[in-house]
Amino acid sequence: MDKFKRTLVTTALPYANGPVHIGHLAGVYVPADIYVRYLRLKGEEVLFIGGSDEHGVPITIKARKEGVTPQDIVDRYHGIIKKSFEELGISFDIYSRTSSKIHHETSSDFFRRLYEKGEFIEKTSEQYYDPEANQFLADRYIMGTCPHCKNPNAYGDQCEACGTSLSPLELIDPHSTISGAKPILKETKHWYLPLDKHEEWLRKWILEEHKEWKTNVYGQCKSWLDMGLQPRAVSRDLDWGVPVPVEGAEGKVLYVWFDAPIGYISNTKELLPNDWEKWWKDKDTRMLHFIGKDNIVFHCIVFPAMLKAEGSYNLPDNVPANEFLNLEGDKISTSRNWAVWLHEYLQEMPGKQDVLRYVLTANAPETKDNDFTWKDFQTRNNSELVAIFGNFVNRALVLTQKFYGGAVPAIGELAEIDRQTIAEFQKVKANMEHNLDIFRFRDALKEAMELARIGNKYLADMEPWKLIKTDEVRTATIMHVALQIAANLAIAFEPFTPFTAKKLRNMLSMSEIKWSDLGRIDLLKEGSHIGQVELLFEKIEDDVVAFQINKLEEAKKKNELSNYKPAEVKANVPFEEWEKTDIRVGTVLECCKVPKADKLLQFRIDDGMGGRTIVSGIAQSYPEPEKLVGRQVLFIANFEPRKLRGIVSEGMILSAVDADGKLVLCEPSREVKPGCTVG
Ligand code: 2FM
Ligand code: ZN
Repeated sequence: MDKFKRTLVTTALPYANGPVHIGHLAGVYVPADIYVRYLRLKGEEVLFIGGSDEHGVPITIKARKEGVTPQDIVDRYHGIIKKSFEELGISFDIYSRTSSKIHHETSSDFFRRLYEKGEFIEKTSEQYYDPEANQFLADRYIMGTCPHCKNPNAYGDQCEACGTSLSPLELIDPHSTISGAKPILKETKHWYLPLDKHEEWLRKWILEEHKEWKTNVYGQCKSWLDMGLQPRAVSRDLDWGVPVPVEGAEGKVLYVWFDAPIGYISNTKELLPNDWEKWWKDKDTRMLHFIGKDNIVFHCIVFPAMLKAEGSYNLPDNVPANEFLNLEGDKISTSRNWAVWLHEYLQEMPGKQDVLRYVLTANAPETKDNDFTWKDFQTRNNSELVAIFGNFVNRALVLTQKFYGGAVPAIGELAEIDRQTIAEFQKVKANMEHNLDIFRFRDALKEAMELARIGNKYLADMEPWKLIKTDEVRTATIMHVALQIAANLAIAFEPFTPFTAKKLRNMLSMSEIKWSDLGRIDLLKEGSHIGQVELLFEKIEDDVVAFQINKLEEAKKKNELSNYKPAEVKANVPFEEWEKTDIRVGTVLECCKVPKADKLLQFRIDDGMGGRTIVSGIAQSYPEPEKLVGRQVLFIANFEPRKLRGIVSEGMILSAVDADGKLVLCEPSREVKPGCTVG
């Protein structure tokens, strides 16, 4: 950092076609906010830029589906996203949007400058066109059969059934999702950024001059560069976006990935109309892009090539991209509603912003994909935030109220244990800095927590609540040291849990905090008064977590049901064959689990003919088999008897297989005589 005067921090602009979820937060916004808060605490000059990405095909598809305009869609989600970031304490200096006038102008000018400098190549190619809707079709607007798995609903860019990336030309029987028409191939002209021409300097710049980049980022760049870069189209045939500002480009807009990163520039301009250039062009400014791993190529290769082609801008100094966060063992998915949405979390867990920030940092996907589970959320809250951090601060402050009426007691002579404790907590600052400076926020947070652990242990070992009865002077020293540790916590946790840090600062009547004060034992003056003591964190009970888990399960079920496609019907069976199957109604007399078999239940059935035993593989759908007694079931009566786990099963009980795989017993719609035939 020494060679720079100031830092510009950008965060990936989230698409405004849905709210943000915990995956976005853990990968991008929480780490960026921690870093920015840390720099501000150090008194450094920093600018934190965010905004919504409001162009691109998915927004137009959503609008079409809902029968509204793309502007309606982005207005809705931009509002939700902006508000939820604010409520989580993501401390942007500006959070703006790419549908703004200033962004249209900035990205249009940027394109024109590259165009005039001859930095693009123009190419004509054949693309699918809808002859009924009279428009070119973006890949997502074309559906057809996947050539690999024969899924009839594959998109022009990807088959979601087998995960293969496709080109629309590969689809079998393609059709337009706008009119249903069969698309025709038609020539269209586009502008391409010749990345191949930039390959050489990019190789040197990244592979030789930025070996310090995170290994996941460096590795991905290396593999792109080793594959060889190709020209990339920077325009599209679409009516939503920034119009291509050259003659002969009617009906064409800038590709969303061309205009989105320019959004960082537009937003800086919007905030600082007279001063923005120093943040982008001054060599003393360091630029950092916080992004998720899916954005690496755009921020490390494409955007730098654009900036270099323009000629007057800085290149990023680092791109600390993270891996992905999964949810309860499954990939987060907007379309499957498998996510914890930030705006819902804020509503359902009021006042718990810092718990989420803490858990997402403690478990951040910094070097590999990680998993968020509600159980882990609860454990980290209850056994770390409440039991260590909260407990220590509460003890220290409550005892100060009780023993000294809230005044910081005088420090006396230090004993060896005090010195050791102080020396230990003074190491925390350097350890935190070491990790924060290289974007290792999990480890930095562990160090901050270490400070609370040290405080907790100190109080537990010293037992001032007992000592007060025998040695008031010594107790005062211990309480003084404990209060100084609490004051240090208010600094160390400010980047991670800013709401809690503020609460703690207020309780300790600390006016201003600085990073350089971390490690000091004179932050609170003798005799100064602490304010009203409140709990920093509260326990999260099982029912709160159960509610969230249940919500996810419901979402999964709903999704499975709405995507349900019945299995293919088997080959026809002649009537004479079918007739041979003898289905009857029986009444359950007894039902129990088969020992050592997870899936099997043993039934005793009144079949109207003296009774029979049937073993059925439905135990997982009916965990309380005794409750089935008295119910009627359908069973195949002439199914050849067979032995299952040593029990002879004389038939087969019929059940439906629901979309979620659960088995549901079939029964007559009113009670009938056991032994009745079914046909
Ligand atoms: O992946 C995404 O969500 C993109 N909207 C990120 C854009 S980052 C930047 F270029 F604006
Ligand atoms: Zn497929």
